[in-house]
Amino acid sequence: MSAAVRHHAPDPAARRPLLQVQGLARAFGGLRAVDALSFDVAAGEIVGLLGPNGSGKTTALNLISGALRPDGGSVRFQGLELAGQPAHRIVRAGIARTFQLVRVFQSMTVLQNVQAGLMFGASRGAGAGLDPGDAQLLLGQVGLAGQAARRADELTYIDQKRLELARALALRPRLLLLDEWLAGLNPSELVEGVALIRSLHARGMTVLMVEHVMDAIRTLCDRCVVMSSGARIAEGTPAEVLSDPKVVQAYLGDDDLEAAHV
Ligand SMILES: Nc1ncnc2c1ncn2[C@@H]1O[C@H](COP(=O)(O)OP(=O)(O)OP(=O)(O)O)[C@@H](O)[C@H]1O
Ligand SMILES: [Mg+2]
Repeated sequence: MSAAVRHHAPDPAARRPLLQVQGLARAFGGLRAVDALSFDVAAGEIVGLLGPNGSGKTTALNLISGALRPDGGSVRFQGLELAGQPAHRIVRAGIARTFQLVRVFQSMTVLQNVQAGLMFGASRGAGAGLDPGDAQLLLGQVGLAGQAARRADELTYIDQKRLELARALALRPRLLLLDEWLAGLNPSELVEGVALIRSLHARGMTVLMVEHVMDAIRTLCDRCVVMSSGARIAEGTPAEVLSDPKVVQAYLGDDDLEAAHV
């Protein structure tokens, strides 16, 4: 993947940070779930956000996406300060996400789910109209072209994940936040899932992905940020961070078997 990124982004200006997280903090009672977290994501990158269970990855995504208000720190996106803004503003600024536990409108059809996203997404960007072909196009992009008329609750697990992704893409984001989007997939689905993320990236999407599936991280990520107890403990290429003794130490004792295989 990184070869493709380098190929497509020779201009240094294209690599300036799209997202700049600085000193981000959030406590729950006495627990510092996210503790002075800082990192950047450049336009065109796929960055992995790693760390053992409970290290604060989902909380970090919640703070960036506006699902939670930070106690302190800064989230700058394309130069705009977004920390503490409501979720709908952050979507309008160009950040969309998927959830660790899949969230789709279960009783709506696949097409309706995506149309709901498109309607909201159309309110971004001057003059962006709602083209009925867009929903079908998005479903094609995620591999659901033949499923438009089915109810979301009739879909297999991976197809529900595809649908959630299509709905996030309907918001027309520049940055996609994925929270363990590959979790729970079987080996062949995993290959398809990795290919799908790769194809979105090849179309220009910037991705920040929380993930435990190490093979996928090695294949997809240009760079990784590793968290432990809310703080950043390492940053570098997948090979660098996964061989970092601090990272190995943080994962020891974690009950996530795959992660423990670092
Ligand atoms: N709403 C909340 N109220 C209280 N504590 C919370 C809340 N959300 C998260 N926590 C705690 O904050 C810490 C970080 O949780 P978080 O869900 O961000 O971890 P994570 O890195 O995403 O873990 P996992 O890999 O298991 O998904 C955990 O100790 C968790 O129990
Ligand atoms: Mg999580």
